[in-house]
Amino acid sequence: MLKKLSVVMLGLTAVVFCGCRTERLTSAPGRIKNPVMHKNTDESLVKPYILPDVLLSRTGKKIENAFDWVHIRRPELLELYKKEMYGYLPLRPDRTEYEIISVKDDALNNTAVRKEIKLTFSMNGKKHSFVMLLYIPKNAVAPVPVFVGLNFKGNHTVTPEKDVLMTGRNVDGKLIEKRRSRHIKRFYIEETVKRGFATATVCYHDVYPDNKDENSWRKSVYNLFYADESNEKFHTHASAISAWAWGMSRMLDCLEGEKMIDCSNAFVHGLSRLGKAALWAGANDTRFKLVISNESGCCGAALARRDFGETLEIITHYFPHWFVSSFKKYVHRENELPFDQHCLAALIAPRYLAIGSAEEDLHADPKGEFLSGAHAGRVYKLFGVETYNENTPHPVGSHITGAVSYHIRSGVHDQNLADWEHYWKIADKIRK
Ligand code: GCU
Repeated sequence: MLKKLSVVMLGLTAVVFCGCRTERLTSAPGRIKNPVMHKNTDESLVKPYILPDVLLSRTGKKIENAFDWVHIRRPELLELYKKEMYGYLPLRPDRTEYEIISVKDDALNNTAVRKEIKLTFSMNGKKHSFVMLLYIPKNAVAPVPVFVGLNFKGNHTVTPEKDVLMTGRNVDGKLIEKRRSRHIKRFYIEETVKRGFATATVCYHDVYPDNKDENSWRKSVYNLFYADESNEKFHTHASAISAWAWGMSRMLDCLEGEKMIDCSNAFVHGLSRLGKAALWAGANDTRFKLVISNESGCCGAALARRDFGETLEIITHYFPHWFVSSFKKYVHRENELPFDQHCLAALIAPRYLAIGSAEEDLHADPKGEFLSGAHAGRVYKLFGVETYNENTPHPVGSHITGAVSYHIRSGVHDQNLADWEHYWKIADKIRK
């Protein structure tokens, strides 16, 4: 009986009780009073489930070739995801300006050219800006591929360099110097550049502040378009995840103007909530040739119907602004979703998709992440591309390569060297 009582208590202490075992929930948000929500982390308790057929359109048409996928099912799924889950991306502003605010020719011990570029979008008499930090290998003789990703705590947190501008205002509107270099091990900028890749990043709060206060969108890029709307109306059609995805596409627009960058090899990446945003960016913007989902978990790569790890109930409670308001209707009714996350993975086909998991990151459901990639394989097959399937062995430490790749490393929720080793390897194959 006790075993069946898998519940999560997300409160000050954030402890998960799984049968008679207790464990700490490393990525649980704190300081929220006591909701007790079901959360299963026992594989033996996963009940059988039926996934929506990725190759069956809503009108009942079987999708049997790449043409029908591209022209019927893909747009249909994209629209369903917008309407039901992530909302509609911001529109195209009237004007976009790029201002180079610094260039350093001898960055990272003279191995890179570093630029900081301010992107300003204007519309309806309003402006929204963010600063992109860019490193390009100095010894490049031809345009190089580029990794594009958002960061959590500011551009200054992902670089070892002391003179990079602080970005990423926190909830109180403050910039925090003491976070400088704290996340260098999430980006491995020096190593990325050494391997011949450029890398560009923006702080996600500067695109849409990640705050569940229902007014926070007014400080986001959406305010250029919808300032006259009520909060209630706004949240029916837009979300933070869509704004972040949009932001990565705007970074790519800007990178297209850089002569030493080869934007036909643009790789979008993200950890966790930013992995969800990377998947959504890759689904919408086919210029991204490789989409990297690093432990994106619930509402990212993980299948919702498995009921393992974070649930729709938990995620929509703590992070309602990541989705349209009506997404909540699927809480405890996951089987009624018109898609599951293998459909999101399939929206990347036939481009490259890399799914990364961590063994101890049960909150993100490593197996559910693996299975999304496996089930997306039917769509890749329409393009003549073979990928792994649900029976492909994937023990911890293994790397499945191919158009859909998968790796699972030991350890907890993070994006670290072991993950980057996999992504660099895939990126190297693609660039050849
Ligand atoms: C929370 C949330 C996850 C998310 C993660 C993160 O743990 O529940 O869905 O992926 O934060 O972004 O770090």
